[in-house]
Amino acid sequence: MSRKILVTSALPYANGSIHLGHLVEYIQTDIWVRFQKMRGNQCIYCCADDTHGTPIMLRAEKEGITPEQLIDRVWHEHKRDFDGFHVDFDNFYSTNSKETQHYSDTIYTRLKEAGLIEIRSIEQYYDPVKEMFLPDRFIKGECPKCHAKDQYGDNCEACGAAYQPTDLIEPYSAVSGAKPVRKSSDHHFFRLSDPRCADFLKQWIADPAHVQSEAANKLGEWLQAGLSDWDISRDAPYFGFEIPDAPGKYYYVWLDAPIGYMGSFQNYCDKNGLDFDEYWKPDSEAELYHFIGKDILYFHALFWPAELAHAGFRTPTGVFCHGFLTVNGTKMSKSRGTFITAESYLNHLNPEWLRYYYAAKLNGSMEDIDLNLEDFAARVNSDLVGKYVNIASRCAGFISKRFGGKLGACNTTATAEFVAAFSKGEIAQSYEDRDYGRALREIMRLADVANQYIAEKQPWAMAKQEGREAELHEVCSTALTLFRDLTLYLKPVLPKLAEHVEAFLNIPPLTWTDAWTPLPAGHAINEYQHLMTRIDPKKIETMVEENKQSLLPSPLGGGAGGEGATVAQGTNANHPARHAEHQQNEAKAEAAASPWEPFIAIDDFTKVDLRIVRIANAEHVVGADKLLKLTLDLGGETRTVFAGIKAAYAPETLIGRLTVMVANLAPRKMKFGLSEGMVLAASDERGGPFLLSPDSGAQPGMRIK
Ligand code: MSP
Ligand code: ZN
Repeated sequence: MSRKILVTSALPYANGSIHLGHLVEYIQTDIWVRFQKMRGNQCIYCCADDTHGTPIMLRAEKEGITPEQLIDRVWHEHKRDFDGFHVDFDNFYSTNSKETQHYSDTIYTRLKEAGLIEIRSIEQYYDPVKEMFLPDRFIKGECPKCHAKDQYGDNCEACGAAYQPTDLIEPYSAVSGAKPVRKSSDHHFFRLSDPRCADFLKQWIADPAHVQSEAANKLGEWLQAGLSDWDISRDAPYFGFEIPDAPGKYYYVWLDAPIGYMGSFQNYCDKNGLDFDEYWKPDSEAELYHFIGKDILYFHALFWPAELAHAGFRTPTGVFCHGFLTVNGTKMSKSRGTFITAESYLNHLNPEWLRYYYAAKLNGSMEDIDLNLEDFAARVNSDLVGKYVNIASRCAGFISKRFGGKLGACNTTATAEFVAAFSKGEIAQSYEDRDYGRALREIMRLADVANQYIAEKQPWAMAKQEGREAELHEVCSTALTLFRDLTLYLKPVLPKLAEHVEAFLNIPPLTWTDAWTPLPAGHAINEYQHLMTRIDPKKIETMVEENKQSLLPSPLGGGAGGEGATVAQGTNANHPARHAEHQQNEAKAEAAASPWEPFIAIDDFTKVDLRIVRIANAEHVVGADKLLKLTLDLGGETRTVFAGIKAAYAPETLIGRLTVMVANLAPRKMKFGLSEGMVLAASDERGGPFLLSPDSGAQPGMRIK
C-alpha cells in the first residue's frame, strides 16, 4: 500500500549562503525523498527560508534595504544553490508568509487557552543608542573567567566558558558600540516546565521510532535536568510576526521557524488541492519526518512536539538527526579555504560527485561526517567512473556499431545475482534506514559482479573473432541490463546521471516498483554519450583557493545565524539553546586568541607600498554580494581592485574621493576578474568597513610611509 509521507529539512537562515555543511542535510533528505517516490509512495518534501530575527533585520539595515528585499534576494540565491545540487523540494517557501503567520497565531492562541503561556518581566541588556534589546550574540565584553577581551554574551571563544551576558566585564553593544543598560520588559513564555509537557515528552522520546537512540539519551539528560520555560517573544524593533494580543511584541524566530514547515505545506496544499488537516490532525495516518542537524535537536524533539501536542496537532513520526560536516578532519575554516559555499563548489565541480560522496559516508547516525578532499576524488573516480560508468562505456559501442543499436536477448544466469539482490530488498531497506553507505557498498559489490562478468567474457576479444556475433550481442545486452539495474539503485543519489542513462537506454523513468526484468531483445537504444568524467584534483585545489580569496571583511562579523535564545532560568554548559555557535565566522574565532599581531621590523613594513589613490570609478559587480569594482587612479596609472565594501558604500558616493591602497600586493585572480591590489578599510563587530581618507593636500600616487 502506498504511504503518505511529509518530509522536511531544517529551514536555512535567510542571512547566509548555503555551504557544504548545509548540504549534508539537504542532499541526505533529497535522497530519501527520491527513494520514497521511486517506491511509489506519495512523498512531499517541504522546506522554506527561515527569515525572521534580529540578525536579518540588522543586516538589511546595514545594506540599506528592507528585510523583505533581503530575504527575497537570499531566497533566490538559496533556490539556485539547491537546484544546482538537484535538491528537489516540492515546495521551497518562506516563513515570512501569511500561512506561517496563521499557524503561529493558531498555535499561540491554543497554547494560551491551555494555560501554557505565561507573561513575565525579565531584565535584559538594552542598547540605548540603537534603542533595542540586545540578543546575547550582539553583546560583547571581557570574559569573566579568563578575561579575554571582545567575547560574546553567551560564551567565551578563548576558554569555552558559558555564562549570562550580565556576567561580562565592560559589556558593549556589538551593534552600536554603546554601553548597554539593563532594562526590564514583559516576555511571553511557553511553560515547558509544566508537568503536562514533561510527562508527554518522557513518553514521546521513549518510542524508538521517534528519535535515534543516541538522541534519546541526550534528550533524556535534558529532561532529567528539568525543562526551563521558553522565552518566545521579543520586543520591537524586530523582524517577525507581531503577537496579536500583545502590540510591540513579536514571536521569537524559533517559535515561527518550525511552524514554517506547516506554512510551506499549507501553501503546497493550496497549490495542489490537498487537504492540510489530513496530514496534521492528531490521528493522521500520514507520516511526518523532520531531517535536522544535531545542533537543533532540542528545538525539534522537545519544544516542537510539546507545542504541537498541546495545540491540537499531530506530532512527528520521526526526527532524523545527523552530525556535522568536517573537511579534511577539522571544522570548516575560512582561512584554510574549506568553508566552501554551494555556489563556489558548483563553479568547479559536478554536484553528483558530492551527492555520491556524502551518501557513501552517511549511515543514519548522529556521527559527524568528514569530507576528505583527497579521498573524495579517489572514491568518486574509482566507484563511479572506474566501476559503474565503465560498464556502459565498454559495451554500448558494440551495440550501436554492430547491431544497429538494438539489444539482443540477455543471459539470465549472469543476471541472477542482481535479481536476488533486488528481491531481498536489502538495498531498499538501507535507503529506508538512511544507511546510504550500506546501500552503496552493496551496489558497488554488484558493480564488481558486472565488471567481472565483462572481464571474463571479454567482448572486445569476441568482436575481433568471426562467428561470435551472437555471443557478443548477448554479453553486451546483458551488461547493459545490469547497468540499467545499477542505475535504478543509484538513482536516488544520482538523479541527473540516471536521467541521462534513461535517455541513452531509451527507457521510461526508472521506478523501484518496476519488477526486475531484462531489457527485451530488439529494444533500440541510443548512441552512448560520455556519462561522467573523473574528478581532476586540480579543480578541487582551485576551489579551495577561491574560498580563501573570498575571505572579505563582512559586516556584523559575517556570522550567518540566529541569536541565542533566552531561557528564563537555568543554563548549563551544554545549553541546547546556544544555537548560533557553529555558524560564527571562523576567521574571527581564530583571530580572537590574540588581539595584536606579533612585532615586525621596519623593513617588513617598508615592503608594503602604500599609496594615495583617487577612486576614478566604482561599480556593482553582477553576481557578487559583497564586492564593488573600483578603478583607482595612482596619479597616471590606474588599477582595478575588487573590494568587499558593497554592504557599506553605494558606488556613486565613492567616485572622486581619495583613499589608501596597497599598491604592490601581488595581483590575484578572483571569480570576477583580476584584482590588482587592495584598498584599506577598518572594521570590527562595532561596524565597518570604513575606508581611510588622507588629510587635504595629499595627491594620488603619494607614498605613505
Ligand atoms: N534556521 C534554523 C533551522 C530552523 S528549522 C525550523 C537553522 N538554520 S541553519 O541555516 O543554521 O541550518 C540549517 C540546517 O543545516 C540545520 O539542520 C543545521 O544543523 C544544518 N547544518 C548547518 N551547518 C552544518 C554543518 N556544518 N554540518 C551539517 N549540518 C549543518 O538552524
Ligand atoms: Zn574566557
